[in-house]
Amino acid sequence: MSQHTADPAQAPSTSASTSASASVPADAPTGWWRDAVIYQVYPRSFADSNADGMGDLEGIRSRLPHLRDLGVDAVWLSPFYASPQADAGYDVADYRAVDPMFGSLLDADAVIRDAHGLGLRVIVDLVPNHSSDQHEWFKRALAEGPGSPLRERYHFRAGKGADGELPPNDWESIFGGPAWTRVADGEWYLHLFAPEQPDLNWDHPAVGDEFRSILRFWLDMGVDGFRIDVAHGLVKAAGLPDLGAHEQLKLLGNDVMPFFDQDGVHDVYRAWRLILDEYAGERIFVAEAWTPTVERTALYVRPDELHQAFNFQYLGAYWDAVELRDIIDRSLDSMRPVGAPATWVLSNHDVTRHTTRYANPPGLGTQQRVAADPALGLRRARAATLLMLALPGSAYIYQGEELGLPDVVDLPDEVRQDPSFFRAAGQDGFRDGCRVPIPWTVDGPSYGFGAGGSWLPQPASWGALSVEAQTGVPGSTLEMYRSALAARRVHPALGAGDRVAWLPAPEGVLAFRREPRGDGEAFVCVANTTGADVRVRVPASARTLLTSSAADDIQHGDGHAVVPADTTVWFTV
Ligand code: NOJ
Repeated sequence: MSQHTADPAQAPSTSASTSASASVPADAPTGWWRDAVIYQVYPRSFADSNADGMGDLEGIRSRLPHLRDLGVDAVWLSPFYASPQADAGYDVADYRAVDPMFGSLLDADAVIRDAHGLGLRVIVDLVPNHSSDQHEWFKRALAEGPGSPLRERYHFRAGKGADGELPPNDWESIFGGPAWTRVADGEWYLHLFAPEQPDLNWDHPAVGDEFRSILRFWLDMGVDGFRIDVAHGLVKAAGLPDLGAHEQLKLLGNDVMPFFDQDGVHDVYRAWRLILDEYAGERIFVAEAWTPTVERTALYVRPDELHQAFNFQYLGAYWDAVELRDIIDRSLDSMRPVGAPATWVLSNHDVTRHTTRYANPPGLGTQQRVAADPALGLRRARAATLLMLALPGSAYIYQGEELGLPDVVDLPDEVRQDPSFFRAAGQDGFRDGCRVPIPWTVDGPSYGFGAGGSWLPQPASWGALSVEAQTGVPGSTLEMYRSALAARRVHPALGAGDRVAWLPAPEGVLAFRREPRGDGEAFVCVANTTGADVRVRVPASARTLLTSSAADDIQHGDGHAVVPADTTVWFTV
Protein backbone atom coordinates (compact mmCIF):
# COMPACT_ATOMS: atom_id res chain seq x y z
CA MET A 1 0.00 0.00 0.00
CA SER A 2 1.43 3.36 -0.94
CA GLN A 3 1.65 6.23 1.43
CA HIS A 4 -0.15 9.29 0.21
CA THR A 5 1.94 11.38 -2.12
CA ALA A 6 1.20 14.56 -3.99
CA ASP A 7 0.84 12.97 -7.41
CA PRO A 8 0.40 9.23 -7.42
CA ALA A 9 0.85 9.02 -11.13
CA GLN A 10 4.32 10.47 -10.90
CA ALA A 11 5.68 10.42 -7.40
CA PRO A 12 7.74 7.63 -5.88
CA SER A 13 6.05 5.69 -3.14
CA THR A 14 7.43 5.92 0.35
CA SER A 15 5.50 2.83 1.28
CA ALA A 16 7.09 0.85 4.03
CA SER A 17 6.24 -2.26 2.03
CA THR A 18 8.05 -1.15 -1.08
CA SER A 19 10.60 1.50 -0.19
CA ALA A 20 13.97 -0.06 -0.82
CA SER A 21 15.55 3.37 -0.55
CA ALA A 22 14.51 7.01 -0.37
CA SER A 23 15.95 7.72 -3.81
CA VAL A 24 13.64 5.58 -5.89
CA PRO A 25 13.42 7.15 -9.35
CA ALA A 26 9.98 8.46 -10.24
CA ASP A 27 9.16 5.63 -12.58
CA ALA A 28 10.54 2.74 -10.57
CA PRO A 29 7.75 0.27 -9.98
CA THR A 30 6.31 0.36 -6.50
CA GLY A 31 3.65 -2.27 -7.01
CA TRP A 32 1.25 0.09 -5.22
CA TRP A 33 -1.72 -1.89 -6.48
CA ARG A 34 -0.62 -5.20 -5.02
CA ASP A 35 -2.02 -4.41 -1.60
CA ALA A 36 -4.06 -1.30 -2.39
CA VAL A 37 -7.44 -0.65 -0.85
CA ILE A 38 -9.66 0.67 -3.63
CA TYR A 39 -12.95 2.46 -2.94
CA GLN A 40 -15.80 2.15 -5.43
CA VAL A 41 -17.75 5.34 -6.03
CA TYR A 42 -21.12 4.88 -7.67
CA PRO A 43 -21.49 8.40 -9.10
CA ARG A 44 -25.29 8.50 -9.07
CA SER A 45 -25.38 7.92 -5.35
CA PHE A 46 -22.26 9.45 -3.82
CA ALA A 47 -22.87 13.21 -3.66
CA ASP A 48 -25.08 15.65 -5.56
CA SER A 49 -23.72 19.17 -6.11
CA ASN A 50 -26.64 20.73 -8.01
CA ALA A 51 -29.68 19.57 -6.03
CA ASP A 52 -31.18 17.54 -8.86
CA GLY A 53 -31.29 14.40 -6.74
CA MET A 54 -28.60 12.68 -8.80
CA GLY A 55 -24.96 12.42 -7.79
CA ASP A 56 -22.37 14.07 -10.01
CA LEU A 57 -18.66 14.64 -10.55
CA GLU A 58 -18.54 17.92 -8.66
CA GLY A 59 -20.21 16.15 -5.76
CA ILE A 60 -17.51 13.50 -5.89
CA ARG A 61 -14.78 16.13 -6.02
CA SER A 62 -16.19 17.90 -2.99
CA ARG A 63 -16.23 14.70 -0.95
CA LEU A 64 -12.77 13.38 -1.88
CA PRO A 65 -11.37 14.44 1.51
CA HIS A 66 -13.61 11.82 3.08
CA LEU A 67 -11.75 9.18 1.09
CA ARG A 68 -8.38 10.60 2.05
CA ASP A 69 -9.45 10.56 5.71
CA LEU A 70 -10.76 7.04 5.33
CA GLY A 71 -7.29 6.01 4.18
CA VAL A 72 -7.93 4.28 0.87
CA ASP A 73 -5.34 4.25 -1.91
CA ALA A 74 -7.51 4.67 -4.96
CA VAL A 75 -11.01 5.44 -6.15
CA TRP A 76 -12.82 3.45 -8.82
CA LEU A 77 -15.57 5.48 -10.48
CA SER A 78 -18.46 3.58 -12.04
CA PRO A 79 -19.42 5.02 -15.46
CA PHE A 80 -20.14 8.72 -15.81
CA TYR A 81 -20.04 8.81 -19.62
CA ALA A 82 -22.71 10.06 -22.02
CA SER A 83 -25.49 7.52 -21.69
CA PRO A 84 -29.27 7.22 -21.91
CA GLN A 85 -29.01 5.40 -18.55
CA ALA A 86 -30.85 2.27 -19.61
CA ASP A 87 -28.49 0.41 -17.27
CA ALA A 88 -27.34 3.22 -14.98
CA GLY A 89 -24.53 4.27 -17.29
CA TYR A 90 -23.31 0.80 -18.33
CA ASP A 91 -24.85 1.67 -21.69
CA VAL A 92 -22.38 4.15 -23.14
CA ALA A 93 -23.34 6.37 -26.06
CA ASP A 94 -20.05 8.28 -26.22
CA TYR A 95 -16.96 6.90 -24.50
CA ARG A 96 -15.13 10.21 -24.63
CA ALA A 97 -17.87 12.44 -23.23
CA VAL A 98 -19.28 12.98 -19.75
CA ASP A 99 -23.04 12.77 -19.43
CA PRO A 100 -24.45 16.21 -18.61
CA MET A 101 -26.22 14.73 -15.60
CA PHE A 102 -22.76 14.09 -14.11
CA GLY A 103 -21.03 17.26 -15.39
CA SER A 104 -18.42 17.83 -18.06
CA LEU A 105 -14.97 16.69 -19.09
CA LEU A 106 -13.63 19.65 -17.13
CA ASP A 107 -15.31 18.24 -14.04
CA ALA A 108 -13.72 14.85 -14.71
CA ASP A 109 -10.37 16.55 -15.04
CA ALA A 110 -10.97 18.35 -11.73
CA VAL A 111 -11.80 15.07 -9.97
CA ILE A 112 -8.63 13.45 -11.30
CA ARG A 113 -6.45 16.41 -10.34
CA ASP A 114 -7.93 16.86 -6.90
CA ALA A 115 -7.75 13.15 -6.17
CA HIS A 116 -4.09 13.13 -7.13
CA GLY A 117 -3.53 16.17 -4.96
CA LEU A 118 -4.94 14.20 -2.03
CA GLY A 119 -2.78 11.18 -2.79
CA LEU A 120 -5.60 9.13 -4.30
CA ARG A 121 -5.34 7.30 -7.59
CA VAL A 122 -8.31 7.22 -9.96
CA ILE A 123 -9.58 4.17 -11.81
CA VAL A 124 -12.38 4.59 -14.34
CA ASP A 125 -14.83 2.06 -15.72
CA LEU A 126 -14.50 0.87 -19.30
CA VAL A 127 -17.47 -0.87 -20.93
CA PRO A 128 -16.18 -2.70 -24.03
CA ASN A 129 -18.59 -5.63 -24.31
CA HIS A 130 -21.49 -3.51 -25.49
CA SER A 131 -22.35 0.06 -26.34
CA SER A 132 -25.61 1.90 -25.92
CA ASP A 133 -28.17 1.56 -28.68
CA GLN A 134 -27.79 5.35 -28.87
CA HIS A 135 -24.10 5.07 -29.79
CA GLU A 136 -23.40 6.66 -33.18
CA TRP A 137 -22.30 3.34 -34.67
CA PHE A 138 -25.46 1.53 -33.67
CA LYS A 139 -27.76 4.33 -34.73
CA ARG A 140 -26.11 4.35 -38.17
CA ALA A 141 -26.16 0.55 -38.34
CA LEU A 142 -29.90 0.61 -37.80
CA ALA A 143 -30.55 3.51 -40.15
CA GLU A 144 -28.47 2.07 -42.99
CA GLY A 145 -30.25 -1.29 -42.89
CA PRO A 146 -29.11 -4.83 -43.75
CA GLY A 147 -25.73 -4.90 -45.49
CA SER A 148 -24.52 -1.76 -43.69
CA PRO A 149 -20.82 -2.09 -42.80
CA LEU A 150 -21.74 -0.63 -39.40
CA ARG A 151 -23.83 -3.74 -38.68
CA GLU A 152 -20.61 -5.77 -38.79
CA ARG A 153 -19.39 -3.96 -35.70
CA TYR A 154 -22.25 -5.57 -33.77
CA HIS A 155 -23.79 -9.04 -34.07
CA PHE A 156 -26.63 -8.67 -36.57
CA ARG A 157 -28.07 -11.88 -37.96
CA ALA A 158 -31.09 -13.18 -39.86
CA GLY A 159 -33.55 -15.04 -37.68
CA LYS A 160 -34.48 -18.71 -37.80
CA GLY A 161 -37.90 -20.07 -38.79
CA ALA A 162 -39.82 -19.76 -42.04
CA ASP A 163 -39.89 -15.97 -41.88
CA GLY A 164 -36.91 -15.37 -39.67
CA GLU A 165 -39.29 -14.91 -36.78
CA LEU A 166 -37.14 -16.86 -34.31
CA PRO A 167 -33.93 -15.60 -32.69
CA PRO A 168 -30.69 -16.70 -34.41
CA ASN A 169 -29.69 -18.87 -31.44
CA ASP A 170 -30.88 -19.88 -27.98
CA TRP A 171 -28.80 -17.50 -25.86
CA GLU A 172 -30.57 -15.73 -23.01
CA SER A 173 -29.96 -12.23 -21.72
CA ILE A 174 -28.42 -11.91 -18.27
CA PHE A 175 -31.29 -9.55 -17.52
CA GLY A 176 -33.92 -12.09 -18.59
CA GLY A 177 -35.56 -13.00 -21.89
CA PRO A 178 -33.83 -13.80 -25.18
CA ALA A 179 -30.45 -12.23 -25.89
CA TRP A 180 -31.71 -11.09 -29.29
CA THR A 181 -34.00 -8.30 -30.40
CA ARG A 182 -35.52 -8.04 -33.87
CA VAL A 183 -35.41 -4.68 -35.63
CA ALA A 184 -37.98 -3.29 -38.06
CA ASP A 185 -36.20 -4.58 -41.20
CA GLY A 186 -36.31 -8.14 -39.86
CA GLU A 187 -32.70 -8.68 -38.71
CA TRP A 188 -31.87 -9.51 -35.12
CA TYR A 189 -29.04 -8.15 -32.96
CA LEU A 190 -27.35 -9.69 -29.96
CA HIS A 191 -27.47 -8.13 -26.48
CA LEU A 192 -26.28 -10.20 -23.54
CA PHE A 193 -27.73 -7.53 -21.26
CA ALA A 194 -30.62 -5.12 -21.97
CA PRO A 195 -31.84 -4.56 -25.55
CA GLU A 196 -30.42 -1.04 -25.19
CA GLN A 197 -26.94 -2.61 -24.81
CA PRO A 198 -26.03 -4.22 -28.16
CA ASP A 199 -22.92 -6.42 -27.99
CA LEU A 200 -19.95 -5.23 -30.00
CA ASN A 201 -18.27 -7.60 -32.44
CA TRP A 202 -14.69 -7.91 -31.25
CA ASP A 203 -13.71 -9.81 -34.41
CA HIS A 204 -14.10 -6.54 -36.30
CA PRO A 205 -10.82 -4.59 -36.40
CA ALA A 206 -12.57 -1.22 -36.04
CA VAL A 207 -13.82 -2.23 -32.60
CA GLY A 208 -10.34 -2.98 -31.31
CA ASP A 209 -8.96 0.21 -32.87
CA GLU A 210 -11.66 2.28 -31.25
CA PHE A 211 -11.12 0.90 -27.77
CA ARG A 212 -7.36 1.26 -27.95
CA SER A 213 -7.99 4.91 -28.81
CA ILE A 214 -10.47 5.27 -25.92
CA LEU A 215 -7.87 3.84 -23.55
CA ARG A 216 -5.39 6.47 -24.68
CA PHE A 217 -7.96 9.23 -24.33
CA TRP A 218 -8.47 8.52 -20.62
CA LEU A 219 -4.82 7.69 -19.98
CA ASP A 220 -3.97 11.10 -21.43
CA MET A 221 -6.54 12.59 -19.05
CA GLY A 222 -4.41 11.18 -16.26
CA VAL A 223 -6.42 8.22 -14.97
CA ASP A 224 -4.47 5.55 -13.13
CA GLY A 225 -6.34 2.58 -14.50
CA PHE A 226 -9.47 0.90 -15.73
CA ARG A 227 -12.03 -1.46 -14.33
CA ILE A 228 -13.10 -3.56 -17.30
CA ASP A 229 -16.81 -4.31 -17.39
CA VAL A 230 -17.77 -7.83 -18.52
CA ALA A 231 -14.11 -8.50 -19.28
CA HIS A 232 -14.95 -12.15 -19.89
CA GLY A 233 -17.55 -11.41 -22.56
CA LEU A 234 -15.89 -9.64 -25.45
CA VAL A 235 -15.17 -12.67 -27.62
CA LYS A 236 -17.95 -15.05 -28.63
CA ALA A 237 -17.51 -18.63 -29.87
CA ALA A 238 -17.19 -18.75 -33.67
CA GLY A 239 -20.55 -19.17 -35.37
CA LEU A 240 -22.47 -18.19 -32.21
CA PRO A 241 -23.48 -21.81 -31.49
CA ASP A 242 -26.57 -22.73 -29.51
CA LEU A 243 -25.99 -23.41 -25.87
CA GLY A 244 -28.60 -26.13 -25.86
CA ALA A 245 -29.55 -25.58 -22.24
CA HIS A 246 -32.45 -24.10 -20.37
CA GLU A 247 -32.07 -21.85 -17.34
CA GLN A 248 -28.79 -20.58 -18.69
CA LEU A 249 -28.32 -18.08 -15.89
CA LYS A 250 -27.80 -20.96 -13.49
CA LEU A 251 -24.83 -22.04 -15.58
CA LEU A 252 -23.16 -18.65 -15.33
CA GLY A 253 -20.07 -18.87 -13.24
CA ASN A 254 -20.12 -22.68 -13.33
CA ASP A 255 -19.26 -23.43 -16.92
CA VAL A 256 -17.50 -21.94 -19.93
CA MET A 257 -20.31 -20.57 -22.08
CA PRO A 258 -20.10 -19.79 -25.82
CA PHE A 259 -20.46 -16.12 -24.98
CA PHE A 260 -18.28 -15.91 -21.84
CA ASP A 261 -14.69 -16.67 -20.91
CA GLN A 262 -13.57 -17.60 -24.40
CA ASP A 263 -9.80 -17.89 -24.75
CA GLY A 264 -9.74 -15.17 -27.42
CA VAL A 265 -10.33 -12.43 -24.84
CA HIS A 266 -6.75 -12.77 -23.71
CA ASP A 267 -5.40 -11.47 -27.02
CA VAL A 268 -7.35 -8.26 -26.44
CA TYR A 269 -5.84 -7.77 -23.00
CA ARG A 270 -2.29 -8.48 -24.13
CA ALA A 271 -2.66 -5.67 -26.67
CA TRP A 272 -4.13 -3.34 -24.06
CA ARG A 273 -1.34 -4.07 -21.61
CA LEU A 274 1.24 -2.88 -24.13
CA ILE A 275 -0.57 0.45 -24.34
CA LEU A 276 -0.87 0.84 -20.59
CA ASP A 277 2.79 0.14 -20.10
CA GLU A 278 3.71 2.99 -22.43
CA TYR A 279 2.41 5.36 -19.75
CA ALA A 280 4.34 6.32 -16.64
CA GLY A 281 2.98 5.85 -13.19
CA GLU A 282 2.09 2.14 -12.90
CA ARG A 283 -1.44 2.29 -14.15
CA ILE A 284 -3.56 -0.80 -13.81
CA PHE A 285 -6.42 -2.88 -15.17
CA VAL A 286 -8.89 -4.73 -13.01
CA ALA A 287 -11.17 -7.26 -14.65
CA GLU A 288 -14.78 -7.91 -13.93
CA ALA A 289 -14.45 -11.49 -15.09
CA TRP A 290 -17.06 -14.03 -14.10
CA THR A 291 -15.42 -17.37 -14.72
CA PRO A 292 -16.22 -20.89 -13.58
CA THR A 293 -13.14 -21.23 -11.36
CA VAL A 294 -10.51 -19.13 -9.66
CA GLU A 295 -8.00 -20.92 -11.89
CA ARG A 296 -9.68 -19.51 -15.00
CA THR A 297 -9.80 -16.09 -13.35
CA ALA A 298 -6.03 -16.33 -12.91
CA LEU A 299 -5.61 -16.47 -16.70
CA TYR A 300 -6.73 -12.83 -16.89
CA VAL A 301 -3.92 -11.67 -14.61
CA ARG A 302 -0.96 -13.35 -16.23
CA PRO A 303 2.07 -11.04 -16.27
CA ASP A 304 1.41 -9.67 -19.77
CA GLU A 305 -2.35 -9.16 -19.28
CA LEU A 306 -4.36 -7.44 -16.56
CA HIS A 307 -3.25 -6.63 -13.01
CA GLN A 308 -6.18 -7.72 -10.91
CA ALA A 309 -9.49 -9.50 -11.24
CA PHE A 310 -12.38 -9.25 -8.83
CA ASN A 311 -12.74 -12.26 -6.61
CA PHE A 312 -16.44 -12.98 -6.92
CA GLN A 313 -16.03 -16.42 -5.41
CA TYR A 314 -14.99 -14.66 -2.19
CA LEU A 315 -17.91 -12.27 -2.42
CA GLY A 316 -20.24 -15.24 -2.82
CA ALA A 317 -18.99 -17.03 0.29
CA TYR A 318 -21.15 -17.00 3.39
CA TRP A 319 -19.99 -16.02 6.88
CA ASP A 320 -18.78 -19.52 7.49
CA ALA A 321 -15.27 -20.50 8.53
CA VAL A 322 -14.97 -23.61 6.35
CA GLU A 323 -16.27 -21.87 3.25
CA LEU A 324 -14.12 -18.80 3.81
CA ARG A 325 -10.93 -20.72 4.47
CA ASP A 326 -11.47 -22.79 1.36
CA ILE A 327 -11.91 -19.80 -0.91
CA ILE A 328 -9.05 -17.89 0.72
CA ASP A 329 -6.71 -20.83 0.09
CA ARG A 330 -7.95 -21.39 -3.44
CA SER A 331 -7.66 -17.70 -4.29
CA LEU A 332 -4.11 -17.42 -3.01
CA ASP A 333 -3.07 -20.72 -4.58
CA SER A 334 -4.48 -19.77 -7.97
CA MET A 335 -2.88 -16.33 -8.07
CA ARG A 336 0.57 -17.36 -6.85
CA PRO A 337 1.67 -19.14 -10.06
CA VAL A 338 0.88 -16.07 -12.19
CA GLY A 339 2.37 -13.65 -9.68
CA ALA A 340 -0.79 -11.56 -9.36
CA PRO A 341 -2.18 -10.35 -6.05
CA ALA A 342 -5.38 -11.89 -4.77
CA THR A 343 -8.23 -9.41 -4.47
CA TRP A 344 -11.01 -9.38 -1.92
CA VAL A 345 -14.43 -7.81 -2.16
CA LEU A 346 -17.60 -8.09 -0.11
CA SER A 347 -19.97 -5.61 -1.77
CA ASN A 348 -20.49 -3.68 -4.98
CA HIS A 349 -23.28 -2.00 -6.93
CA ASP A 350 -24.59 -5.31 -8.30
CA VAL A 351 -25.13 -7.32 -5.13
CA THR A 352 -26.98 -7.02 -1.84
CA ARG A 353 -24.67 -5.32 0.64
CA HIS A 354 -22.88 -7.77 2.92
CA THR A 355 -24.49 -6.23 6.00
CA THR A 356 -27.80 -7.51 4.66
CA ARG A 357 -26.54 -10.79 3.20
CA TYR A 358 -25.13 -11.77 6.58
CA ALA A 359 -28.38 -10.80 8.26
CA ASN A 360 -30.00 -13.68 6.40
CA PRO A 361 -29.47 -17.42 6.35
CA PRO A 362 -27.13 -18.77 3.64
CA GLY A 363 -28.27 -19.76 0.20
CA LEU A 364 -30.32 -16.70 -0.79
CA GLY A 365 -27.98 -15.60 -3.58
CA THR A 366 -26.53 -12.15 -4.12
CA GLN A 367 -29.78 -10.20 -4.57
CA GLN A 368 -31.95 -10.33 -1.48
CA ARG A 369 -35.14 -8.58 -0.45
CA VAL A 370 -35.18 -9.35 3.26
CA ALA A 371 -33.02 -8.64 6.28
CA ALA A 372 -33.91 -11.19 8.93
CA ASP A 373 -31.61 -9.94 11.71
CA PRO A 374 -30.06 -6.56 10.83
CA ALA A 375 -28.05 -6.25 14.05
CA LEU A 376 -26.46 -9.64 13.48
CA GLY A 377 -25.82 -8.72 9.86
CA LEU A 378 -23.92 -5.60 10.86
CA ARG A 379 -21.92 -7.41 13.50
CA ARG A 380 -20.88 -10.08 11.01
CA ALA A 381 -20.24 -7.53 8.28
CA ARG A 382 -17.81 -5.65 10.50
CA ALA A 383 -16.07 -8.89 11.37
CA ALA A 384 -15.94 -9.87 7.69
CA THR A 385 -14.34 -6.53 6.85
CA LEU A 386 -11.53 -6.96 9.35
CA LEU A 387 -10.97 -10.48 8.08
CA MET A 388 -10.81 -9.22 4.49
CA LEU A 389 -8.42 -6.40 5.36
CA ALA A 390 -5.99 -8.82 7.04
CA LEU A 391 -5.59 -10.94 3.93
CA PRO A 392 -2.66 -10.58 1.53
CA GLY A 393 -3.53 -8.63 -1.58
CA SER A 394 -5.79 -5.82 -2.61
CA ALA A 395 -9.26 -5.09 -1.22
CA TYR A 396 -12.26 -3.31 -2.70
CA ILE A 397 -14.69 -1.29 -0.61
CA TYR A 398 -18.08 -0.22 -1.94
CA GLN A 399 -19.28 3.27 -0.99
CA GLY A 400 -21.35 3.25 2.18
CA GLU A 401 -20.04 -0.01 3.56
CA GLU A 402 -17.74 2.04 5.77
CA LEU A 403 -20.96 3.31 7.36
CA GLY A 404 -22.35 -0.20 7.77
CA LEU A 405 -25.19 0.63 5.40
CA PRO A 406 -27.63 -2.19 4.79
CA ASP A 407 -29.50 -2.72 1.54
CA VAL A 408 -32.82 -0.95 1.36
CA VAL A 409 -34.97 -4.04 1.04
CA ASP A 410 -38.38 -2.36 0.88
CA LEU A 411 -38.01 0.04 -2.05
CA PRO A 412 -41.40 0.39 -3.71
CA ASP A 413 -41.58 -1.01 -7.22
CA GLU A 414 -42.40 2.36 -8.73
CA VAL A 415 -39.00 3.86 -7.83
CA ARG A 416 -36.93 0.94 -9.10
CA GLN A 417 -34.65 1.49 -12.07
CA ASP A 418 -32.70 -1.75 -12.41
CA PRO A 419 -33.41 -2.92 -15.98
CA SER A 420 -33.45 -6.57 -14.97
CA PHE A 421 -36.30 -5.82 -12.56
CA PHE A 422 -38.46 -4.97 -15.57
CA ARG A 423 -37.12 -7.68 -17.87
CA ALA A 424 -37.74 -10.33 -15.23
CA ALA A 425 -41.24 -9.07 -14.45
CA GLY A 426 -40.27 -7.99 -10.94
CA GLN A 427 -38.94 -11.42 -9.98
CA ASP A 428 -35.31 -10.38 -10.14
CA GLY A 429 -33.16 -7.29 -10.43
CA PHE A 430 -33.00 -5.90 -6.92
CA ARG A 431 -29.76 -4.03 -7.42
CA ASP A 432 -31.43 -0.72 -6.59
CA GLY A 433 -31.35 -1.71 -2.91
CA CYS A 434 -27.57 -1.29 -2.75
CA ARG A 435 -27.60 1.89 -4.86
CA VAL A 436 -29.51 4.23 -2.55
CA PRO A 437 -27.63 7.54 -2.10
CA ILE A 438 -25.40 7.57 0.95
CA PRO A 439 -25.94 9.79 4.02
CA TRP A 440 -23.34 12.39 4.94
CA THR A 441 -25.15 14.40 7.63
CA VAL A 442 -27.51 13.62 10.49
CA ASP A 443 -30.23 15.94 9.18
CA GLY A 444 -31.02 17.96 6.11
CA PRO A 445 -32.40 17.12 2.73
CA SER A 446 -31.21 13.68 1.62
CA TYR A 447 -28.91 13.58 4.67
CA GLY A 448 -26.30 15.75 3.00
CA PHE A 449 -26.26 13.76 -0.24
CA GLY A 450 -27.39 17.00 -1.86
CA ALA A 451 -29.49 20.06 -1.27
CA GLY A 452 -32.49 18.38 -2.87
CA GLY A 453 -33.92 14.89 -2.78
CA SER A 454 -32.32 11.65 -3.82
CA TRP A 455 -33.13 9.57 -6.90
CA LEU A 456 -33.92 6.60 -4.70
CA PRO A 457 -35.57 7.25 -1.32
CA GLN A 458 -33.36 6.92 1.77
CA PRO A 459 -34.73 5.34 4.95
CA ALA A 460 -35.41 7.72 7.84
CA SER A 461 -32.92 5.79 9.94
CA TRP A 462 -29.99 6.75 7.74
CA GLY A 463 -29.20 10.08 9.44
CA ALA A 464 -27.89 8.06 12.37
CA LEU A 465 -25.63 6.13 10.00
CA SER A 466 -24.22 9.23 8.32
CA VAL A 467 -20.55 10.18 8.14
CA GLU A 468 -21.30 13.07 10.49
CA ALA A 469 -23.02 10.84 13.05
CA GLN A 470 -20.20 8.30 13.12
CA THR A 471 -17.15 10.54 12.91
CA GLY A 472 -15.19 10.54 16.14
CA VAL A 473 -17.49 8.00 17.77
CA PRO A 474 -15.32 5.23 19.20
CA GLY A 475 -16.41 1.86 17.92
CA SER A 476 -18.55 3.22 15.10
CA THR A 477 -18.28 1.34 11.84
CA LEU A 478 -16.70 4.36 10.16
CA GLU A 479 -14.04 4.65 12.85
CA MET A 480 -13.39 0.92 12.64
CA TYR A 481 -12.70 1.24 8.90
CA ARG A 482 -10.49 4.28 9.49
CA SER A 483 -8.53 2.46 12.17
CA ALA A 484 -8.16 -0.64 10.01
CA LEU A 485 -6.92 1.30 7.00
CA ALA A 486 -4.57 3.37 9.15
CA ALA A 487 -3.21 0.13 10.60
CA ARG A 488 -2.57 -1.23 7.09
CA ARG A 489 -0.41 1.82 6.43
CA VAL A 490 1.57 1.53 9.61
CA HIS A 491 1.84 -2.27 9.48
CA PRO A 492 2.37 -3.38 5.87
CA ALA A 493 2.34 -7.02 6.98
CA LEU A 494 -1.44 -6.82 6.88
CA GLY A 495 -1.72 -6.62 3.11
CA ALA A 496 1.64 -7.93 1.97
CA GLY A 497 2.71 -11.24 0.55
CA ASP A 498 0.83 -14.05 -1.11
CA ARG A 499 0.10 -16.52 1.68
CA VAL A 500 -1.30 -16.81 5.18
CA ALA A 501 -0.03 -19.15 7.85
CA TRP A 502 -3.05 -20.85 9.37
CA LEU A 503 -3.01 -21.47 13.11
CA PRO A 504 -4.90 -24.16 14.96
CA ALA A 505 -8.34 -22.86 15.94
CA PRO A 506 -11.60 -24.21 17.31
CA GLU A 507 -14.41 -25.11 14.92
CA GLY A 508 -15.94 -22.06 13.31
CA VAL A 509 -12.87 -19.92 13.93
CA LEU A 510 -10.22 -18.78 11.48
CA ALA A 511 -6.83 -17.85 12.86
CA PHE A 512 -3.79 -16.98 10.82
CA ARG A 513 -0.49 -15.25 11.11
CA ARG A 514 0.85 -12.57 8.79
CA GLU A 515 4.56 -11.95 8.62
CA PRO A 516 6.17 -8.57 7.93
CA ARG A 517 8.36 -8.19 4.86
CA GLY A 518 11.46 -7.18 6.77
CA ASP A 519 11.45 -5.40 10.08
CA GLY A 520 8.17 -4.80 11.77
CA GLU A 521 5.62 -6.65 13.75
CA ALA A 522 3.84 -9.82 12.78
CA PHE A 523 0.08 -10.14 13.14
CA VAL A 524 -2.41 -12.71 14.14
CA CYS A 525 -5.95 -12.36 12.88
CA VAL A 526 -8.71 -14.36 14.58
CA ALA A 527 -12.20 -14.41 13.07
CA ASN A 528 -14.90 -16.09 15.12
CA THR A 529 -17.80 -16.90 12.78
CA THR A 530 -19.81 -18.63 15.48
CA GLY A 531 -22.60 -17.16 17.54
CA ALA A 532 -20.76 -17.85 20.82
CA ASP A 533 -17.63 -16.49 22.48
CA VAL A 534 -14.60 -18.74 21.94
CA ARG A 535 -11.37 -19.09 23.80
CA VAL A 536 -8.41 -19.29 21.40
CA ARG A 537 -4.70 -19.73 21.85
CA VAL A 538 -2.64 -16.72 20.83
CA PRO A 539 1.08 -16.08 21.32
CA ALA A 540 1.93 -14.85 24.80
CA SER A 541 3.23 -11.62 23.29
CA ALA A 542 -0.10 -10.85 21.57
CA ARG A 543 -1.59 -7.39 22.03
CA THR A 544 -5.00 -6.41 20.70
CA LEU A 545 -4.72 -3.95 17.84
CA LEU A 546 -8.32 -3.78 16.65
CA THR A 547 -11.59 -5.60 17.15
CA SER A 548 -14.75 -5.57 15.09
CA SER A 549 -17.06 -5.65 18.09
CA ALA A 550 -17.22 -3.30 21.00
CA ALA A 551 -15.10 -5.51 23.23
CA ASP A 552 -12.31 -3.52 24.85
CA ASP A 553 -8.99 -5.22 25.38
CA ILE A 554 -9.85 -8.87 25.10
CA GLN A 555 -6.33 -10.13 25.68
CA HIS A 556 -6.11 -12.28 28.77
CA GLY A 557 -2.36 -12.34 28.87
CA ASP A 558 -2.01 -16.08 29.51
CA GLY A 559 -1.51 -17.15 25.91
CA HIS A 560 -5.26 -17.22 25.35
CA ALA A 561 -7.88 -14.73 24.33
CA VAL A 562 -11.63 -14.84 24.39
CA VAL A 563 -12.98 -13.69 21.05
CA PRO A 564 -16.64 -12.69 21.20
CA ALA A 565 -19.29 -14.13 18.88
CA ASP A 566 -19.11 -13.01 15.23
CA THR A 567 -16.03 -10.93 15.87
CA THR A 568 -12.64 -10.51 14.24
CA VAL A 569 -9.63 -9.40 16.24
CA TRP A 570 -6.23 -8.25 15.03
CA PHE A 571 -3.31 -8.88 17.37
CA THR A 572 0.24 -7.71 17.03
CA VAL A 573 2.66 -10.42 18.14
C1 NOJ B 1 -21.50 -5.37 -14.88
C2 NOJ B 1 -21.87 -4.13 -14.17
O1 NOJ B 1 -21.27 -4.13 -12.91
C3 NOJ B 1 -23.38 -4.10 -14.11
O2 NOJ B 1 -23.84 -3.07 -13.28
C4 NOJ B 1 -23.92 -3.97 -15.51
O3 NOJ B 1 -25.33 -4.07 -15.47
C5 NOJ B 1 -23.38 -5.09 -16.40
N1 NOJ B 1 -21.98 -5.31 -16.23
C6 NOJ B 1 -23.60 -4.75 -17.84
O4 NOJ B 1 -22.74 -3.72 -18.24
